[in-house]
Formats: sequence, structure tokens, C-alpha cells
Amino acid sequence: MFLHCVACDERYKRDPMLYACPAAGCESPLEVLYDKEYAKVGKLTGEGVWRYQPLLPVKKSVTLGEGGTGLHLCERLGRELGIPRLFVKNEGENPTGSFKDRGMTVGIALAQAVGARAVACASTGNTSASMAAYAARAGMTALVLLPAGKVAMGKLSQAIAHGARIAQVEGNFDDAMRLVVELSAHERGVYLLNSLNPYRLEGQKTLAFEVCEALGDAPDALVLPMGNAGNISAIWKGFNEWKRLGRSRRLPRMIGVQAEKAAPIVRTFREQADACRVENPETLATAIRIGAPVNWRKAIAALVDSKGDAGTVTDREILEAQRHLAKTEGIFVEPASATPIAFLRKRRLKGAHTVVCVTTGHGLKDPDALSGAPVEMRRIKPSLAALRKLLDA
Ligand SMILES: Cc1ncc(COP(=O)(O)O)c(C=O)c1O
Ligand SMILES: [Zn+2]
Repeated sequence: MFLHCVACDERYKRDPMLYACPAAGCESPLEVLYDKEYAKVGKLTGEGVWRYQPLLPVKKSVTLGEGGTGLHLCERLGRELGIPRLFVKNEGENPTGSFKDRGMTVGIALAQAVGARAVACASTGNTSASMAAYAARAGMTALVLLPAGKVAMGKLSQAIAHGARIAQVEGNFDDAMRLVVELSAHERGVYLLNSLNPYRLEGQKTLAFEVCEALGDAPDALVLPMGNAGNISAIWKGFNEWKRLGRSRRLPRMIGVQAEKAAPIVRTFREQADACRVENPETLATAIRIGAPVNWRKAIAALVDSKGDAGTVTDREILEAQRHLAKTEGIFVEPASATPIAFLRKRRLKGAHTVVCVTTGHGLKDPDALSGAPVEMRRIKPSLAALRKLLDA
């Protein structure tokens, strides 16, 4: 096993504390590669992330039952969108309610292996919720850096409940990210569990394995939100490894979606630029309110190499898609996770028969998001007559 820089192509030997390329002026995220790729994978057993133990860089230690989430065929929504087989891979079904748990169960094992006294992350909310839970279970201290006032209530409650030390950073996610990277460089006992951590992303690639196993092959397209772009990178890596193992025949098109006013990757993809940043990103989908995504190079590679696409949706389209998915299919997701549906509602994917949308986090994470929804809740007298009137209205 070794580490590979996606920007300058340099290789480094396995080092759990190496988060970014040390080559002068590079500082790009690294990826985990394997010398003799899975020579002895053999028969896979069990369920969830650790079913794929032979394909992961560390032995299982702390688990809460992550992965193995539902892949739901959405016939009604599919008919509406002109997609014969539309699936929702509902990552809200993970133990802390988001896909982050897949990576965190792997990342925390690394933190234990290096003897870290604490784990740390900058987060738009879900990473902190997940890390706090796994740190609690591992008996470690969790330090989370959150952009002040911009984290959804459900996620903040989780970090509080699990006993994390919480720093509300006066600034946005990008400021918090910069700060936590600095901290981990100076405090050797603090292990960094952001999506800059290449080992954590290894856990997240298991979503691709699950989808391929459930469908018998990769889908035509996989649509997902992009923030820091760790997830799209990890999942694309997973599809490629599964195919190289001979367990699937093809690769999906990767379709990444961002919010209109927080869309640095979409812009870089369209303009084929060699930089990726927007100042002051804004969206009510706070999970993806990120202006300087650390994994942008990996994301662009996934989009280009898969002959995929990237697009934006407005906050209004996000909220409409969130409610529509909940009402038509019974799946309640947080705003960021509704971006794939919002995208498919306005853009047809040519020739796509089987499409998987990844809904990354549970709707209860951000209960305030629907507070502006136009609903009428009637107060009634406690009588059957009044109730009947409501039923037939
Ligand atoms: C619910 C949700 N969706 C999507 C994302 C974006 O994932 P990534 O940063 O890996 O692109 C996040 C990241 O925090 C998230 O919490
Ligand atoms: Zn490099």
C-alpha cells in the first residue's frame, strides 16, 4: 500500500499522518493505492462497510453498523423524470444519519493505530456529528471546528450529545478547514479526520461496491451532491476498483451537483480551469456551503474520466425537490441531499436507463429547513366532526 499525489504524481510510503503532498508548493490531497491490488480478496462476508475488509487499509476496530444502506427503487418519481429505473441510495440510514460514517469507522481505526489522543475535523456539520460519535465509542477526545451560526441544529445536537469539544469559528468552512490543518501540523497527537484524510475516503468508496452488488453491475449514472468533493472522489475510486477486480463490467457516468451560489467545482469543470474557488459561498444547503473544496482535482478527474457532468440548482429548487421526494417516495433527506433530484427534475440524462441518486444525509438533520414551507396546519376542536372536515378538505 502506498500514497499517491493526484496533482504531481509523486508516490509516498504508507504514513497515516501524511494528509497532503509534502512536495514543495504542492500540498494536494493524496490517495491510497495498493501495490498488488487485492490479490487475495476471496469471498466477502457480512454486511456494511466491513464486508469489504480486504479492500480497506486497516483492520476493523470501532463500528456502529455503518453502510449497508437501502437502495430504493423509486418507480413513481422515475416515471415522472423519464428514468426507467431510478434508485435512491439513502445514506441517511447510517448510524449518525449521513454517509460520513462509512469513512469515519475506517478513519477512527487509523487514529487508534497511531496512538492519537484526540481526533479533529472542520465540518459543515455531518462530519462533526459522525466523528463525535465514533470518538465517543473509541474513548477518544473529539475536537470539532464549525463555521459559527451555519450548522444545522440536528448536527450540532449530535456533536453536543457525544461530548465533542466544539469551536464555533468566526468565519466560513474554508477558514475552519485552514485552521484545523494548521493545528494537526503542530500537534502530533491530534489526528485529522477531514476528507483530506485519504484513509477515511477508503471507507466511503464502499458505497460503490454495495451499489454494484445490488444491481449486478454499475448503473448508467450516479448523481450526488459535491461539497469538499471527498465523496465523489471516493465513490469513483470504488467503481474503478470493483471493475478492475472483474466484479463489474462497466463504469457509471458520475454527475456532481452543487448549489448555484456555492459551485466552484461546476465552474472549474465548465471552464476547464486550473483553480477552484468562489469567495463567500451561500446556500441554505449548509452541508455543501464550501468555496474552496480540498478534493477538487479528484472530483474533476471523476467527472471527466467517467464522461460525466456537473450542474447547479437553486435553493428554491433544492427545497422543492426535498419535499417532492419526501411526498412521493417517503424518503426525507436534508437539503444538500435533495440536489440530485433537483438536478434531474430540470435536466434529462440522455440514454440513462438505470440511475442512482445518493441522498447523503437524513432530513431530520436540518429540521429548520422546512420552516418556510407553505403548509397549513389547522387548529381544531377535539371533535370527530372537525377531524372529518380536515380529512375531506
Ligand atoms: C449531507 C451532505 N451531503 C453532501 C456533502 C458533500 O460531501 P463532500 O464534501 O464529500 O463532497 C456533505 C458534506 O459535508 C454532507 O454533509
Ligand atoms: Zn503533489
